[in-house]
Amino acid sequence: MSENPSNRTVPSMESLVTLCKRRGFIFQSSEIYGGYAGFFDYGPLGSELKRNVKDAWWKALVHERDDVLGLDSSIIMHPQIWKASGHVDGFADPMVDCKESKKRYRADQLFFARVRVDGETIGYVSVEEADDMQAQADEKASEMKRKLGRQGNLDPVVLQEYTEALPEEYALIPSPATGKPGSLMAPRQFNLMFETKVGPLADASSVAYLRPETAQGIFQNYRNVVDTGRVKIPFGIAQIGKAFRNEITPRNFIFRSREFEQMELEYFIDPDDETWPKVYRYWIDWCKNWLVSIGIPADMVGEDVHPAEKLSHYSKGTTDLTFKFPFGTQELWGIACRGNFDLTQHQEHSGKSMEFFDEARKEKYIPHVVEPSLGVDRTILAILTAAYTEDEVPNDKGSPEKRTFLRFAPQIAPYKAAVFPLLKNKPELVETARTLYEQLRRRWNIGWDVSGAIGRRYRRQDEIGTPYGITVDFDTIEKDQAVTIRDRDTTEQVRIPLDQVESWLAERIG
Ligand code: GAP
Repeated sequence: MSENPSNRTVPSMESLVTLCKRRGFIFQSSEIYGGYAGFFDYGPLGSELKRNVKDAWWKALVHERDDVLGLDSSIIMHPQIWKASGHVDGFADPMVDCKESKKRYRADQLFFARVRVDGETIGYVSVEEADDMQAQADEKASEMKRKLGRQGNLDPVVLQEYTEALPEEYALIPSPATGKPGSLMAPRQFNLMFETKVGPLADASSVAYLRPETAQGIFQNYRNVVDTGRVKIPFGIAQIGKAFRNEITPRNFIFRSREFEQMELEYFIDPDDETWPKVYRYWIDWCKNWLVSIGIPADMVGEDVHPAEKLSHYSKGTTDLTFKFPFGTQELWGIACRGNFDLTQHQEHSGKSMEFFDEARKEKYIPHVVEPSLGVDRTILAILTAAYTEDEVPNDKGSPEKRTFLRFAPQIAPYKAAVFPLLKNKPELVETARTLYEQLRRRWNIGWDVSGAIGRRYRRQDEIGTPYGITVDFDTIEKDQAVTIRDRDTTEQVRIPLDQVESWLAERIG
């Protein structure tokens, strides 16, 4: 069941990627060596944005609540952890190779259909997962019928995942890369964990993994937190950190990369059957509200409830909060009820008890858990998508000019405001502006820009999402000891006394 987000128009991926590069938000990693697929670097503005997003999540969960504690565990952990969690045996995606083009596909993102004319199969078509894949397949099927000169009616083209193909069909399904059958291989399981070696001996016993999720760092520390944190059920442990997955097809910019960050919460609850559904709903709503609090419009967020038959054996329910990305509506945040699977596995594999003595109930049990798990980078892509806006505003000469701006919520904007002396060659203007800038930057990250016409400077700040532009002009020093503050979204300007600028901003940006 999937609730469809709004009909809001979203920017193209290209305009986001170009803006990110041009203004120093996000770069392809190792660019001077031709780039490295699936890895990205956050530039001066991107690193501020990312830090603000992580701080907002940490503040809302760890600082502003009594029942959640923070954690920062190591990236490389005892390899047994990944055995216990099931990742060594099961954290794999089915992969398909095309012998001819050497392209590699994820089998669950590759679709095929039998092309039938009046019930008779005349061939196969294949497409990669995309919003318009049905249209692509229909077109390919019509083309096939035309080329083969077949009369009769084309049956509906029914797409299926490549994982559902029969072994005898592998040789008949064309590769999307070549359009010809015979080059696609049978799907193989491909484990997504990055392996490394720990210690001086490079033998099998030294194999370790870069964590593919931060969650297991929480489970393996659960006992430590219970023993030191004076907690009572329900309580949560939150962690932000890097995770690594050797994705077969990293794509869509920072949406699916090989190195990314997660913000994960494990919320431990009692095992009663009535408890988890309420807690599950509570966290779904909490997550949606948090997204709204950082400026993501509620109507761009949907709920995708996983059907019971697709859940893992231990899972009681999973809902993805989806977001309307430029390439389609996709998972942003997963909220999963994992029962007591993880703690039970760690109890079995480590031999250490994971039981909790519940004072209120006077009973011992292994707590169950609800896990909201969110990618930092996906959140940033959602924020950029939602914030990207184009409109027309008058330029310095009063004629309309196209502008691009990022409508960031002040809480997460890299700069909260920018200060400009009207002219850079008038020391008295620069001095007053500099004094104000230095006052404000003690409290917030503030931009400073002295070059170019004032309209240009506003436009530069608009494009990086700075909510307010503050100009010191001749009236400031000669007449009223006040400055002009311009609002990024409305472009409206107000005159505020110099000594009230800080409190004026504080009211608006916190
Ligand atoms: N502990 C549960 C877990 O890791 P997941 O659905 O595999 O669940 C959770 O990942 C979230 O992490 C996703 O909803 C997404 O936001 C983010 N994520 C997962 N794989 C990612 C990737 N390759 N690149 C960027 N973000 C990713």
